[in-house]
Amino acid sequence: MNNVFESSHPLVAHKLTRLRDKNTDPKKFRELIREISALLAYEVTADLEVAPLRVQTPLAEAEGVELKQPIGLVPILRSGLGMVEGIWGLMPTAEVWHIGLYRDESTLKPVEYYNKLPVEPTVSVCLVLDPMLATGGSAVATVDILKQWGVSKIKFVGIIASPEGVDAMHNSHPDVPLHLAVIDDHLNEHGYIVPGLGDAGDRQFGTG
Ligand code: URA
Repeated sequence: MNNVFESSHPLVAHKLTRLRDKNTDPKKFRELIREISALLAYEVTADLEVAPLRVQTPLAEAEGVELKQPIGLVPILRSGLGMVEGIWGLMPTAEVWHIGLYRDESTLKPVEYYNKLPVEPTVSVCLVLDPMLATGGSAVATVDILKQWGVSKIKFVGIIASPEGVDAMHNSHPDVPLHLAVIDDHLNEHGYIVPGLGDAGDRQFGTG
């Protein structure tokens, strides 16, 4: 499918297996989320625009570059929080804008409860972060919000997706690339990805 990128990196696959394991404790789980996110970020950022920059080395002048566009990391609360650190470490000047959406368990539809975006956009590229692309409702709603805010370049970074979530994003926002560690088999009747890893929020924050 166009604009859907599933990682084929062995380190991602190795860490993902540990992440899925129900015996992985919250500390290790958070560590794995951070590490996988950083590995995915390497691929996601491959087409960022750069501007020329000359620097002086101890020996001579060197031609180099610097990132051109201001970048925003947009974790979807609360599961996306754990993905920020690994990516922010690679792009410390990125701005972090939180979007709070919870899934109404009866309708499985997203309900917005936190959004403090200023009126004018302050970034031109946004990476939307959510480890689980399940129904796709939260991701679609977040991209709606960012497009309304005026951001022209938006990418989604997730760890496990369901085919249903991929379809939902693709139907609503075909222009937004999806960068994923893996697409799993299906979504169950409770909106959980199978085989998945359970509840990514509970497993990070020890609340399960
Ligand atoms: N959110 C999760 O944390 N896990 C799923 O499987 C689906 C949504």
